[in-house]
Amino acid sequence: MKHDFVEKKVGLMAVLILLVISVGTLVQIVPLIFDAQVRDPAPGIEPYPPLELAGRDIYIREGCFGCHSQMIRPFRVETERYGHYSLAGESVYDRPFQFGSKRTGPDLARVGGLYSDKWHRLHLIDPRQLVPESNMPAYPWLATREVDPRTVERRMRALRRLGHPYTDEDIAGAQAATSGKMEIDALIAYLQGLGTNLERGR
Ligand code: HEC
Repeated sequence: MKHDFVEKKVGLMAVLILLVISVGTLVQIVPLIFDAQVRDPAPGIEPYPPLELAGRDIYIREGCFGCHSQMIRPFRVETERYGHYSLAGESVYDRPFQFGSKRTGPDLARVGGLYSDKWHRLHLIDPRQLVPESNMPAYPWLATREVDPRTVERRMRALRRLGHPYTDEDIAGAQAATSGKMEIDALIAYLQGLGTNLERGR
């Protein structure tokens, strides 16, 4: 039998296995590269404004992703709780994306507008003031550290090089938008923006 022949030749079998896996992988990946739904921003999705961008970097620095995902899966249990499932086109300006897989706390993909700024402030400074049984760490230092506007400007330049459509005015406005702001203000601006930009009524 032909199959016996292949199975007895380890070298040949390795080559054939590699061929099958490569073709299978390409079939999965290549169409995505050309799929506008995956590659292009979803309606209403724009690059982060300066303050939110600074907040996003604080989110990453503090490791919030270790307990919070930002990807609502297309299951009823998830959409009933968190809202419309996440679309690939919603995270084209997320570098790196914050999908995550660990959910010690709730998914945050659509947390924007769910609470007031004041709630977030109190919650970040001491979660147990608001949710006594919470095991989320407190982040009091965010309220005493200022955002450095110069780094925000540099970050926007770097992202523009990667293809984010920031204009010169956007970048020029970064200083004014972030100077004098505390890190907690930036983080709250970021949280309040999450999931609020997608155009509804699809
Ligand atoms: C050790 C795990 C852990 C880490 C790290 C963590 N959280 Fe949480 N977070 C939780 C848990 C658990 C809850 C639910 C209880 C509560 O509201 O405090 C929560 C709740 C929240 C909520 C409210 C969500 C909702 O839908 O009610 C927000 C917003 C939030 N976290 C933001 C953050 C941010 C921002 C950071 C990083 C600065 C962070 N979390 C870090 C565990 C964590």
